[in-house]
Amino acid sequence: MTQVQPTQKVYGAWQQIPVTPSRQMTVDAQQMAAHWRRCSLSSDFWAQYMSLFIPTRVTEEYLGRGEVEQVLAYLLNELFENCAKFSNGSHQLVRYVAWSQDDSMLFQVTNHILPEGQAPFAKLIDEMLNNDPHELYFQRLEENVELDLDGSGLGYLTLIKDFGVQFSFRFRPQENGSTAVDVQAKVSLQQE
Ligand SMILES: Nc1ncnc2c1ncn2[C@@H]1O[C@H](COP(=O)(O)OP(=O)(O)OP(=O)(O)O)[C@@H](O)[C@H]1O
Ligand SMILES: [Mg+2]
Repeated sequence: MTQVQPTQKVYGAWQQIPVTPSRQMTVDAQQMAAHWRRCSLSSDFWAQYMSLFIPTRVTEEYLGRGEVEQVLAYLLNELFENCAKFSNGSHQLVRYVAWSQDDSMLFQVTNHILPEGQAPFAKLIDEMLNNDPHELYFQRLEENVELDLDGSGLGYLTLIKDFGVQFSFRFRPQENGSTAVDVQAKVSLQQE
């Protein structure tokens, strides 16, 4: 864990980059939850949009355009669904930002929670970033069967395990009594 500003907490390899205005979107979390298909519509749109950065022909070390689009659609759907499911309190804005980098793409999705939600989420993040994702995945799978839980808790783990997505997280307490949760996801464009 790295301390950025006195009140902010960062987990994982956070990247501080200026926002490119043409690659961002804001939506309302409640409206996404009320019309669930908006999650997949938004993720499919941005997956296609970003995959156009990939040339039609790539060398064999790199993922092709279609492969990139598939990974991004899966990843962004997971991130938008989490915002729709877990946003809490009066501040319901969700912000999406994306960057195209040399050998990777970086996405940042922000939603807001009540301050008391930070500690349990941070505990889960710590566990996820500091353990073997494969072991954790199967452990969680067994727990789900035993406990019959609602949320499977496998979203991030599946993306780490199957697609090598690198996550980092930031919590920013706001003056309006909510805490902003920023999730960054880095997708490598090289074959594993
Ligand atoms: N954007 C978010 N804001 C607040 N809490 C979150 C957010 N994303 C995840 N969480 C917390 O982290 C947990 C793990 O998230 P993850 O996406 O891995 O699983 P899930 O959404 O519960 O289940 P699944 O994705 O398998 O349907 C969630 O159950 C929730 O408690
Ligand atoms: Mg999820």
